[in-house]
Amino acid sequence: MPEAQEQRLPRSHGGNIRDAVRRYGIAEKTIVDFSSSINPLGSSPAAKRAARKAIDRIDRYPDINMSDLRTAIARYYGIKPEQVVCGNGSNALIHLIPRVFRPKKVLVPMPTFSEYAAAVEDAGGEVAPLMLQEQNGYRIDPLDFSFALKGVDMAILCNPNNPTGALTTKAEMVEIFRSCCENGVRLVVDEAFIDFSEADSLVKDAVQSSSLIVLRAFTKFYGMPGLRVGYAIADTETAQRLRRGQEPWTIDTPSEQAAIAALTDWGYAKKTRRYIAKERDRLLANLRLIQGVEPFPSSANFILLKIAGIDSQLLTDRLGRRGLLVRDGSSFPGLDNRYIRIAVRTWWQNRRLLKALREILGS
Ligand SMILES: Cc1ncc(COP(=O)(O)O)c(C=O)c1O
Repeated sequence: MPEAQEQRLPRSHGGNIRDAVRRYGIAEKTIVDFSSSINPLGSSPAAKRAARKAIDRIDRYPDINMSDLRTAIARYYGIKPEQVVCGNGSNALIHLIPRVFRPKKVLVPMPTFSEYAAAVEDAGGEVAPLMLQEQNGYRIDPLDFSFALKGVDMAILCNPNNPTGALTTKAEMVEIFRSCCENGVRLVVDEAFIDFSEADSLVKDAVQSSSLIVLRAFTKFYGMPGLRVGYAIADTETAQRLRRGQEPWTIDTPSEQAAIAALTDWGYAKKTRRYIAKERDRLLANLRLIQGVEPFPSSANFILLKIAGIDSQLLTDRLGRRGLLVRDGSSFPGLDNRYIRIAVRTWWQNRRLLKALREILGS
């Protein structure tokens, strides 16, 4: 393996159900995936119908310009289709951005989603980590952030942050963005989980500036990880540069149609927001009662837990044997073997996890 690759920051992901089936020898249908934070209500029925219908069109190429999807997204936010770039999951856009803009040094608050660092390094850039502190609830302090901007030409941050669940408020984001502008730094904000606190989104700001790109996805909130659809919002010129850097036909027809249908499934969105808020509160309250578990407050559909008395790898494994997949925190730079991350799932599934945690931790 080349040395540079060997030295790369770790890159691992949740949601590896096939691996769990092999490793634990259990049937896929008995597994509950708390390791990737996907809407537990399943995907929107309207999206599924649209994808099924689109199967009849797979004998033709998808629209190379993704015009229908870009128009639907633009209409949703009240922006222009020219300001939208669609990609094969938001991960494709996370990798596209450094490939197109070739930043030399990129500020990345950590712990966070591992693909930002991987994408920067793949494009030949250097990552400047800003280590967030547990005593501050892993929150980003705009002042610390502005000091850390010296010498960097891009910053990528996740809001709310994965894996901590900490939200940077709109007022703080505006302050952070102002510092970026003052320092000539392009800011990329990954809002993969902001559907639960939409008022803090920077989508509307992104179309007005050449220094801000906002990323969104259908993956988590709309429960569609199996169809790969994400998008970037930027000003017209930035969006155009990004589209030019893409490979053609990045999204297939069923995925495009499903995403369009999901966007206007208002009932599903409303139900999801209400359900997650209620279950997250209930889960947090019950987790606080378990000895050896300290949950962090979360603005997303997952919760970071600090655990005592057992190594995160061992706990992940013991839960895995029971068909409960959780995310081992030790793979995140800035966390270690005292942390795991769990998704907020249905009431019954959450109860199953709580029971297993109580049994394993002996409380
Ligand atoms: C913060 C964050 N952004 C982006 C992604 C990638 O999502 P997608 O499936 O849309 O590529 C993930 C996936 O876990 C994520 O956690």
